[in-house]
Amino acid sequence: MLWPPSPVVWVSSLSKDGVADLAPFSLNQFYSYLANWPQVIVIGIGGHTGPIVRGKGTKKTYQNITATKDFVVNIPSEEHIEKINLTALEKPPGFDKFKAYDLTPTPSQVVRSPSVGECKVHYECKLMKIDDYGGHSEAVYGNVLAVVAEESVLSKKADEKVAAINPIYYYGVGAGKGLYFSAGRIIGERDDSKYT
Ligand SMILES: Cc1cc2nc3c(=O)[nH]c(=O)nc-3n(C[C@H](O)[C@H](O)[C@H](O)COP(=O)(O)O)c2cc1C
Repeated sequence: MLWPPSPVVWVSSLSKDGVADLAPFSLNQFYSYLANWPQVIVIGIGGHTGPIVRGKGTKKTYQNITATKDFVVNIPSEEHIEKINLTALEKPPGFDKFKAYDLTPTPSQVVRSPSVGECKVHYECKLMKIDDYGGHSEAVYGNVLAVVAEESVLSKKADEKVAAINPIYYYGVGAGKGLYFSAGRIIGERDDSKYT
C-alpha cells in the first residue's frame, strides 16, 4: 500500500437483537471530516478476509449499522494496540468482544450503540448513506450527532490535546498485517501571520 498511515478508530455498534460489537477501522478509507458542520465521518467497510475471503456486507459492524442505523466512532490510544488486534479477529455471531477482551460498553448520549468506555473521545453517528464505488469495500457515511470527550482532554490547551488522546495511525502491509505509528509529537507549526 502506498497511502500514508491513517488514523485508527474503534467502531462500536449494536445488532437488531441488542448484541454490542466493536472492531477497528482505518486503512485507505478512514474516518474523515468532509464538512465542519454537519460533521460527516466515512468508514470503508470491506468483506472478511480470513481465513476465507468473503464478500462485502459480511462484517458484523456493517450488518449492525445497516440494521440499527447508528454507530459510535471511538478514538483509541497507544495503550490499546493489543486489544485493537484482538478485536480485529473474525468471530462467530453472538461472540461478545467487549466481554472477551475486557472492554467496557458504556451508554452513549444520543445513539443506541454503546461507546467504548476505555476511549477518551467518541463521535456518536447516525447512518447517513452507504455508497458502493465498486471496490472491495463500501463507504459508510455517518452524521455526527454528538462529540463526547473526557474532561482530561477538553481541559488541555491545543498543543497538549493530541498528546492527551495519544492516537494511533495504521499502515497496512497485507491481509491481517500492518504497522502502527504514533502521532503524539509536534514536528512543526503553521501560523499564516508570520508570512503576511
Ligand atoms: C488497525 C486496523 C484497521 C482496520 N481497518 C479496516 C477498514 O478500514 N475496513 C475494514 O473493512 N476492515 C478493517 N479492519 C479489519 C476489521 O477490524 C476486521 O475485519 C473485524 O473482524 C471486523 O469485525 P466485525 O465483524 O465485528 O465488524 C482493520 C483492522 C485493524 C487491526
